[in-house]
Amino acid sequence: MEASPLTALVRIIASCVQSIEQAYAKQGIPYPTLDAPFQPSALDLDPALLQTASLIVAAADQLIATVRSPMQTLQLYSGSMHLTSTLGFVVDSDVPDVLSNAGPQGLHVNEIAAATGVDADHQARILRFLATRHVFKEISPNTFCNNRISSLLVKAKSLAEIKADPEAKYDGAPLAAVAASIGDESLKSSAYLSEFLRQPGDNASPFNIAYNTKKTMWEWRQEPQNVWRARRFAVGMKGGGEMFPTSIFTEGISGDKLPKDSLVVDVGGSVGSVTLKLAEAFPHLRFVVQDLHKEITEGEKFWADLNPTAIANGQVKLQVHNFFEPQPVENAAVYFMRVIIHDWPDSNAKSILANTRKAAGPHSKLVLFDLVMPYACPTADAPPVPAPLLANLGVAGGGFVTALDLEMMTVFNGKERTVDQFRTLGEATGWKLEEVKPGMLFAFVFSAI
Ligand SMILES: C[S@@+](CC[C@H](N)C(=O)[O-])C[C@H]1O[C@@H](n2cnc3c(N)ncnc32)[C@H](O)[C@@H]1O
Repeated sequence: MEASPLTALVRIIASCVQSIEQAYAKQGIPYPTLDAPFQPSALDLDPALLQTASLIVAAADQLIATVRSPMQTLQLYSGSMHLTSTLGFVVDSDVPDVLSNAGPQGLHVNEIAAATGVDADHQARILRFLATRHVFKEISPNTFCNNRISSLLVKAKSLAEIKADPEAKYDGAPLAAVAASIGDESLKSSAYLSEFLRQPGDNASPFNIAYNTKKTMWEWRQEPQNVWRARRFAVGMKGGGEMFPTSIFTEGISGDKLPKDSLVVDVGGSVGSVTLKLAEAFPHLRFVVQDLHKEITEGEKFWADLNPTAIANGQVKLQVHNFFEPQPVENAAVYFMRVIIHDWPDSNAKSILANTRKAAGPHSKLVLFDLVMPYACPTADAPPVPAPLLANLGVAGGGFVTALDLEMMTVFNGKERTVDQFRTLGEATGWKLEEVKPGMLFAFVFSAI
């Protein structure tokens, strides 16, 4: 008889839990409870602990999938859009913000309803759905408070500021902005995934069917009635700058090896959150941040707030540029793109890279910062994982990339790619892949062929 996988999974969990508890004990920090609002800790970003936590999540999720009745698993998975829609609703109606003001004693749903203007019974059912999934806590029947997870959805503005300028309410709150945007455009678009894949007609993505437009989501967000959406999305992108260690970008462009006044172009840079870090790290370099009109307008405010000197002294220039048109900056030392190529199908990705190649000089480098699609099965180049875990660690590893891949498919017909697919895109457009630097985001360094 074959051994049950349950014991092996439980052993992974037990040994990893022990390591994590020892690390916290050594620092004299209690392991954070789910019940209290999130407080940053020195151990949050420790790479070894993050890896250990991933093994626990991978093993626990695989254990659940193994022991739970498959019928129940399918029922839960089929209804998982409710998680997206309810998260979108709570951030839209400012529930985490209202609860944040109430503190640990929380609020009865009647009080939440009075503050948000949304019916108490609906509020109770939505908050209980989320509390059952560890987002918010139901302290006593119909009384809820924030917990470690929901507290991260609290916005950066007070309720009075939110009321005074609702369009600006996501400014400074990237996690809330992303939850709102996914609960809105992405969720609506995803309802058309099956129709798009089976009968695309002349639609470029499910988004185009959902919103009855032939424009890309980027062009559509530039329309006057959608500018608030562009602003909300740009907030999520700004937050992206903080999500990743700066070393990914500093080492990715090897800025310390570039001569003084070398030019670095952030193609499709949104407001320029990566350039902000690079300009601080490399005062000897010059930068151009390029994007569409609305993003550059947002970028002007972003730099005025965070580093007006870099604009005033010319170290950083913001430039409206459509990357499907000829690249105006010629012979830069580095052209880089962070999470740009994954937004586009191969045909468009090749146009962007080819336009960059035409402007490049013989020594220009192209650096693409993107995620890499990991296979769920073992492959020769995949790092080893303890048996019986999935080779990509399931939800703890490939979970994010495969979800983002479907997000890209749904709203742009874009895709996450394997290392070989990046190499092939480069070869088709005059770029040779010289180096792959793995990390939370991979850096693909190309030289001009
Ligand atoms: C996923 S975001 C990445 C932004 C930025 N690179 C970052 O990591 O923060 C994609 C960006 O591509 C920009 N974009 C889309 N279509 C574009 C086009 N045709 N020309 C230039 N930028 C474009 C969007 O406005 C958006 O800022």
